[in-house]
Amino acid sequence: MRFSNQFIERVRDETNILELIGQHVQLQKAGASYRGLCPFPGHGEKTPSFFVSDVKQLYHCFGCKKSGTVYNFLMDFQGLSFVEAVESLANRANIPLPEPKKDFAPSPQDNTREEKMVLLKLNRYVAALFQKNFQGKADDSPVKTYAFSRGLSSEVIQEFKLGYTEPGWSDLVDYLKKGRAPLALAEKLGLIKKKANGEYFDLFRDRLMFPILSASGDVVGFGGRSLGDQQPKYLNSPETPLFHKGRTLYGLHATAKYIRAQNEVYVVEGYMDLLALYQYGIKNVVATLGTAFTSDHARAIQKLATKVVVLFDGDEAGQMAAEKSLPIFLDAGLFPRCLTLPNEADPDDFLREFGSEEFLKKAKEAPDHFLSYLGRQMQNYGGRPTEKVEILNKVGPILERVRDQRLRILYLQEVAERLSVTPTWVTQQLKGGRMQQPEITRENQKIIESIKIPIEESILVRFMLQKSEYLERVRASGILSKFVSQDAQMIAERVIEKYLQNPNDFDKLAASLIIQTQDQGMAQDRPSSQLLTGHIVGEGFGMKNLDEAGELQLLNDCLARVKERDYKIKSRSIINAIKIDSESSHEKLEELMKMAQEQKGPHGGLS
Ligand code: UTP
Ligand code: MN
Repeated sequence: MRFSNQFIERVRDETNILELIGQHVQLQKAGASYRGLCPFPGHGEKTPSFFVSDVKQLYHCFGCKKSGTVYNFLMDFQGLSFVEAVESLANRANIPLPEPKKDFAPSPQDNTREEKMVLLKLNRYVAALFQKNFQGKADDSPVKTYAFSRGLSSEVIQEFKLGYTEPGWSDLVDYLKKGRAPLALAEKLGLIKKKANGEYFDLFRDRLMFPILSASGDVVGFGGRSLGDQQPKYLNSPETPLFHKGRTLYGLHATAKYIRAQNEVYVVEGYMDLLALYQYGIKNVVATLGTAFTSDHARAIQKLATKVVVLFDGDEAGQMAAEKSLPIFLDAGLFPRCLTLPNEADPDDFLREFGSEEFLKKAKEAPDHFLSYLGRQMQNYGGRPTEKVEILNKVGPILERVRDQRLRILYLQEVAERLSVTPTWVTQQLKGGRMQQPEITRENQKIIESIKIPIEESILVRFMLQKSEYLERVRASGILSKFVSQDAQMIAERVIEKYLQNPNDFDKLAASLIIQTQDQGMAQDRPSSQLLTGHIVGEGFGMKNLDEAGELQLLNDCLARVKERDYKIKSRSIINAIKIDSESSHEKLEELMKMAQEQKGPHGGLS
């Protein structure tokens, strides 16, 4: 991260959240918070469900569930990255941005920070060298000739911070040494490698460099294209603590806002395809990095859009990859379409030959991904009953993964129609045999419970953030270990930890926790963010118009409920154990009675 936590919190403190959001929403006082019509698209509301608290520096909409700090507001409303949001608010508050450091000399801060921070700093430092290398070359140098011959414009080169690595073996090593950078960490990042004699050498040589940026603008890795036929064509950073191919989408830092605005994303396979689309004005695009599409990729997309156009290469490998991605999109509840360009052209070639108008025409016609898959399965279909069964065996499992039930029914009808069978026949096959719903095993149950946060646990977290007295009370009850939701438990623990660090800053506690997760480069996940902001909404969850006595009563009820449930779970497991092993039943019964006593202790059961 480019900014210190201190800087980020200072900018937040000097931004008036009411004024910022007030530019877009008419806010009216409502209890301790302010209230207005939610400015985010998607639920054109008539009754205001959007709340802002200046004391807590948070906003929360209980309609569309968007929530967070001033930074989240800009990220959601204007599609900025976290870094851009910080810069924008710093400018607004007239706070000068910290100068990026020229020298890599370790500062005392580095010792206390995690290795990850140092790695990020190192990557940023290296990316700057690559960029400078490129910019310094003459227009007729091999690398610039190559870049321009691929149709890259100066603007795109600038915006995506493309760079160049020199052909020698020690350009980067020398630069790192000069800046007193930790060479061992540069090796860990896959930038350099140690020879037998202990000296290091550069791994990326004579390549056009594509820095890979995270959504918040950090350089997490690099891809380097050879300028000719040298192999490998692309050299990529290995998996490092910063870079996981299966979780990274190239280009997202620049394209997220367009994806969000259009609620649709093109998914392509490579660096050059992404840049080509971008340059031709199709900016709602991301690229996988030559790996299979994963559920982590789908999750990243899901935060921004529901519609996807899969645009893989027209060759056999590209089509296989497209096929494999289908169930992953459907699992994530996304609506994928599949665009196949004629003559096995890749998107880059196609755009350069036919232009964006022709491309958009093809894109408009692209069929639903599921139907194009079905079409491929039916390529040699002759109408025989055995073929019908075979095809259903293929498409059935995918059909079952369509999360949107309405869509599933439509696809099912389409399958029935094309196979000339009744929808009931298809449904019966799906329900029968090995395609049954998975059994709810104990493991599954745990997962389900960890997703659903029981209401009493979410109310308790909200109480903890509302007043420090409530936080102290929950803390003293020792109840957290009895939470069934791991999310709620983790957040409550972090709230207490943060509070103990600085009890005087209670009001800013939630805002700081939200900022911290972002600062560590973690994607902010919605459920936990909502848990952290929900307390500024004075209603919902049955907390409407409660006076202080009422709040205390509710708080105690929630504590009692968690205890009672915990008692039930534990006693049930003891009783089960007795059934299995009657030998030790005496001790177990005693344990049970002791627990029952405790359950009736100071806070009692449910009144
Ligand atoms: P392609 O071979 O389709 O590359 O691989 P491309 O994007 O069309 O490349 P150009 O147009 O020849 O420059 C798609 C993606 O697979 C990864 C890269 O991320 C590439 O963008 N790849 C490919 C590698 O990592 N290494 C390789 O050697 C080749
Ligand atoms: Mn290509």
